[in-house]
Amino acid sequence: MMRLGSGVSAGSQQEPSSPVDLAGLPARIWRSLVVGSRDPAHGFHWPVLASLRSPGAPDARTVVLRHAEPADRVLLIHSHRRAGKIGQLQTWPSVCLVFHDPASRTQVRVHGEATVHAQDALSAQAWQTLPAHSRGLYRGADDFAVLRVVAGELDWLLLDPAGHRRAGLRWSAGGWQSGWLEP
Ligand SMILES: Cc1cc2nc3c(=O)[nH]c(=O)nc-3n(C[C@H](O)[C@H](O)[C@H](O)COP(=O)(O)O)c2cc1C
Repeated sequence: MMRLGSGVSAGSQQEPSSPVDLAGLPARIWRSLVVGSRDPAHGFHWPVLASLRSPGAPDARTVVLRHAEPADRVLLIHSHRRAGKIGQLQTWPSVCLVFHDPASRTQVRVHGEATVHAQDALSAQAWQTLPAHSRGLYRGADDFAVLRVVAGELDWLLLDPAGHRRAGLRWSAGGWQSGWLEP
């Protein structure tokens, strides 16, 4: 477990932090992602999506997390079919999504693979659920795309005044393999 990262002090008056159950961490993270997908007031609603614009040249932008499906390790983001990121992801599908919830002082980094869905069943289904004001961002359903990210690794960081805690989770053999990371 990581102790006392830079800039954070833990004086003797600090309460001991509550223990974090490593085995329960995958469910805890996915619960937060589900909440974040539904609640614009939750920090996890507004992740940064990082991609490559060419090999060795990273790109990143703020997006909205529209849906989280823990059972399938899936996160959905809406976009315009002609947005720059679409071509990037079709060429280099590996992505990193960075979530930060200031209220719980939690950061989650999701590494995964993205697929672009436009003019297919998934994008049509998502289009049906879009409110009119969201549809207005597009000329029509043909312009609309869904980015489907399947998570392969999660990096969880809790900024705890009594000692930061960080864990890495990797999807392997049908389950999340978790371990504490330091720093
Ligand atoms: C708060 C906020 C939320 C955004 N949400 C999305 C989104 O859900 N999908 C999207 O494609 N762009 C979203 N954008 C715009 C992107 O950040 C970006 O400017 C745009 O998609 C063009 O990026 P690209 O050229 O890399 O495709 C959002 C921007 C902000 C500031």
